[in-house]
Amino acid sequence: MAAEFLEHAEEEQEHADIAATRITQLGGEPNFDPKGLASRSHAEYVEGKSLLDMVREDLIAERIAVQSYNDIIRYLGDDDPTTRIAMEHILGKEEEHADDMKKLLETLSTNGRDL
Ligand SMILES: [Fe+2]
Ligand SMILES: [Fe+2]
Repeated sequence: MAAEFLEHAEEEQEHADIAATRITQLGGEPNFDPKGLASRSHAEYVEGKSLLDMVREDLIAERIAVQSYNDIIRYLGDDDPTTRIAMEHILGKEEEHADDMKKLLETLSTNGRDL
């Protein structure tokens, strides 16, 4: 499970890089300031007290990410194909993350473990 979380964390870092690169290509300046990160974030930061809690909270966050990228893709429409392709790539990853967390949650729940 630690390996799964690490893999996801690395992929999330990639998403930040993809978004920042595209913002730069469009002449903008990506905002890397950790201040205000929580208020700019779509998902809330909730610390899980147990493994089950952590997976549950992550599943919620991944589903919010899926929703957000769907909104962005819908907003873009056909206006910016390059950004759209980048966002679709990220969306695919977020859907995988949500699916991974759902499976983990099912495994943990059926084993009746709340570590
Ligand atoms: Fe992500
Ligand atoms: Fe994710």
